[in-house]
Amino acid sequence: MIDIHCHILPGADDGAADLEQSLEMARIAVASGIGTVVATPHVNSRFCLNCAGIELAVAELNESLLETEIALTVLSGAEIAVTRLLDMDDHTLGLLTLGSSPYLLIESPYLGNLNFLDAQLTDLQTRGFMPVLAHPERCPWFREDRSRLEELVEHGVLCQVTAGALEEPFVRDLRDAGLVHCAASDAHDTNGRPPALRPSALTIDAPAKLLAGELLSLDALESAPCA
Ligand SMILES: [Fe+2]
Repeated sequence: MIDIHCHILPGADDGAADLEQSLEMARIAVASGIGTVVATPHVNSRFCLNCAGIELAVAELNESLLETEIALTVLSGAEIAVTRLLDMDDHTLGLLTLGSSPYLLIESPYLGNLNFLDAQLTDLQTRGFMPVLAHPERCPWFREDRSRLEELVEHGVLCQVTAGALEEPFVRDLRDAGLVHCAASDAHDTNGRPPALRPSALTIDAPAKLLAGELLSLDALESAPCA
């Protein structure tokens, strides 16, 4: 399986506190059947991460994984807050894509007037990036009116739900409506939110296509069994 949303980088955000915790998260991921994890540290107003440093931090983590014989590959990525999009030029955004794909993981906003969200995501698309909304199920604006999410998906935005929420009624509704494209752990630690997934098209086929930069076919996923 491939986990495209995981706060596994040591000391980068509110995820793994140090290398020891990163490695422990990696062990949990491998034990659950995950072979590849995309490190997606928060890029928001709270964590002023050096975007150019993510790749180096990922390389260092991969080295530690080799040394400790943990069979996990970590790719670079980020979870970007919508509020940070305005500051970022194409070069910076290019440092934050999931692996070497054109996909950007955008955190679903929780607050505020989201009427400009579609314009911001369209802007990313016209610049050659492909937005994936992280956990839309946590966004009150979408919960209030699902058609807001439908419109975004119609315009090519993909949705990543939290694997642990797949059985929630609202997420089931989203799946039935064809609004879920992949599932990921959004792991932050080893206990509360660990990096464990269950095998399904949403954790195997979909993330593999996404990392290959392929457009996901909704038809192929609609019949996929629920994890
Ligand atoms: Fe996250």
